[in-house]
Amino acid sequence: MSSSSPLLYVISGGDDPGQWRGVFAARFGDALRVAVWPEAVDPAAVDYIAAWSPPAAASFSGFSGLKAVFNLGAGVDKLLARADLDPAVPIIRLQDAGMAPQMVEYALYGVLRHQRDFDLYAADQAEKRWQPRLPRLAADTRVTVLGLGAIGGAVAQALAGLGYAVRGWSRSARSLPGVDCRAGADALLRLLAETEILISVLPSTPETRRLFNADTLGALPAGASFINCARGDQVDEAALLSLLDSGHIRMALLDVFVTEPLPQDSRLWGHPRVVATPHVAASTLPGPAVDQIADGIAALKAGVSPLPGQVDRGRSY
Ligand code: NAP
Ligand code: GLV
Repeated sequence: MSSSSPLLYVISGGDDPGQWRGVFAARFGDALRVAVWPEAVDPAAVDYIAAWSPPAAASFSGFSGLKAVFNLGAGVDKLLARADLDPAVPIIRLQDAGMAPQMVEYALYGVLRHQRDFDLYAADQAEKRWQPRLPRLAADTRVTVLGLGAIGGAVAQALAGLGYAVRGWSRSARSLPGVDCRAGADALLRLLAETEILISVLPSTPETRRLFNADTLGALPAGASFINCARGDQVDEAALLSLLDSGHIRMALLDVFVTEPLPQDSRLWGHPRVVATPHVAASTLPGPAVDQIADGIAALKAGVSPLPGQVDRGRSY
């Protein structure tokens, strides 16, 4: 391998960080040198960092020749929280890269659980109760997708394609076929009042942290369901639990939590109205991820600006 090839340093607190060595080698061959933290490197020699959930013990200081940090996922909240990362270095995140179809499936599971009463039938089964209910059409089921980006936009369109009455919400005005799109903070409360199944696919930002609290979740009609496949810090979990206890929220499908792993003593684990999964709604697929990073490196070399997937630090996503 040529010592003149660019050096990419993987800093990941995710599962099996060592896998990235082989994945990058298969895609780049000798054109890229790869080191994986905690392997020691000369920070001044590093051209690119690929990071996911970086461990606190890994430093971002001293990378004087760094051209970009590639986020090995969609959400960049953990990277933006790093005070030791030079704000002048561009952060490039994955855009879909195979996550959108996974998220569509995850959201659809929750939507069907509510619409087709699978939560109620599970409770009936536990009591050996034979109690048919009239099915409801997708067209009569009001689903709202918050966040209409690379992933949320795909979720909204897929559900609309299946015939659900889909509303969507974003920061700036968007237009998606079959989706009643709304935008801006002022539109939120009215939208919630029209919602039967609420799905968050929002990034974690100062505006979205604890967005789901007693006021907003309480603005949903009684018996609404909540699907959070975005970030746990968007939820006031005590408020959610209280609305689940009262039945105001009928069902919550939660993939993400304020603290992960979800602490053993969290009431969310055993709540009869909660389905909890361990942050698996949409996982990074190494092949598509590395392909997108290769495109990013090519765009950097070509001087493209802004780079595809470049994070706007002013918006925090
Ligand atoms: P994205 O392309 O950046 O899209 C973000 C969307 O959220 C955009 O439509 C944006 O509005 C909207 N938004 C941001 N702040 C808002 C605000 N204050 N009010 C209203 N809308 C706002 O992101 P993405 O790739 O779709 O990913 C979304 C998030 O999903 C990630 O940040 C991550 O947290 C989460 N995620 C979770 C998993 C999992 O397994 N649980 C996997 C992947 C991703 P504009 O359109 O106006 O910009
Ligand atoms: C996963 O949570 C991601 O943001 O990619």
